[in-house]
Amino acid sequence: MRKPLIAGNFKMYKTISETHIYAKGLRAALASVADREVAVCPPFTALAAVAEELRGSPIAWGSQNVHWEKQGAFTGEISAEMLKELGCRFAIAGHSERRQYFGETDQTVNKRMHAVLVAGITPIVCIGETLQEREANTTFSVVERQMKNGLQGLVSNATIVIAYEPVWAIGTGKTATPAQAQEVHAFIRSQLAKTFGDTFAKLTRVLYGGSVKPDNMSALMSQPDIDGGLVGGACLDVESFSKIVRYQ
Ligand code: PGA
Repeated sequence: MRKPLIAGNFKMYKTISETHIYAKGLRAALASVADREVAVCPPFTALAAVAEELRGSPIAWGSQNVHWEKQGAFTGEISAEMLKELGCRFAIAGHSERRQYFGETDQTVNKRMHAVLVAGITPIVCIGETLQEREANTTFSVVERQMKNGLQGLVSNATIVIAYEPVWAIGTGKTATPAQAQEVHAFIRSQLAKTFGDTFAKLTRVLYGGSVKPDNMSALMSQPDIDGGLVGGACLDVESFSKIVRYQ
């Protein structure tokens, strides 16, 4: 019922020319993949390059961030309309690196999510606990708070994607075990059902992110509530990302 989605988050890697080469390679490598959805999220500067290389292919693209205002005196920001014009189907909102280094809060994540939806783009809303929060046994309450505030005002017929990314697993090589991830994914889905109804909970994809690699993707995907991956480091190489996409 939920088509798996595997999204690559380039973070601050790849120039325009590197992205052209990468996207050409990815398009060729994934030409025959149909039963799962794939997206790449390069830096803003390389969005036009992926649009050029991937247009007409089954691979979608998206942004790593977005501003909530339509336009205005907001130096350095990019609006959802601007992303729409570049053909973005997705926009990541609230990645933990934005929360950690750039003052992102649940409230700003919420504004970004709404702006993205108005533009007809699917937000990928990121949530997840830090190591400290996990060790203090507050994982569920942190995720609950991030969802309550971050998804406030969402209507139950909207399409969003949630990415559960335990902060301690991002870029550290420490993946959550499939069971650890499943436990939180099941909790997230139960929260979705409680707030937005069973249908919404059944249809909404919850991705796992945090050191996803070709050799751990299958085990993660075998869990009933894991609907795909948000992949950082391992998406930067075409071969490694294609292997992740082609998990069995
Ligand atoms: P990672 O990053 O795969 O490099 O751990 C995931 C993410 O930050 O989305």
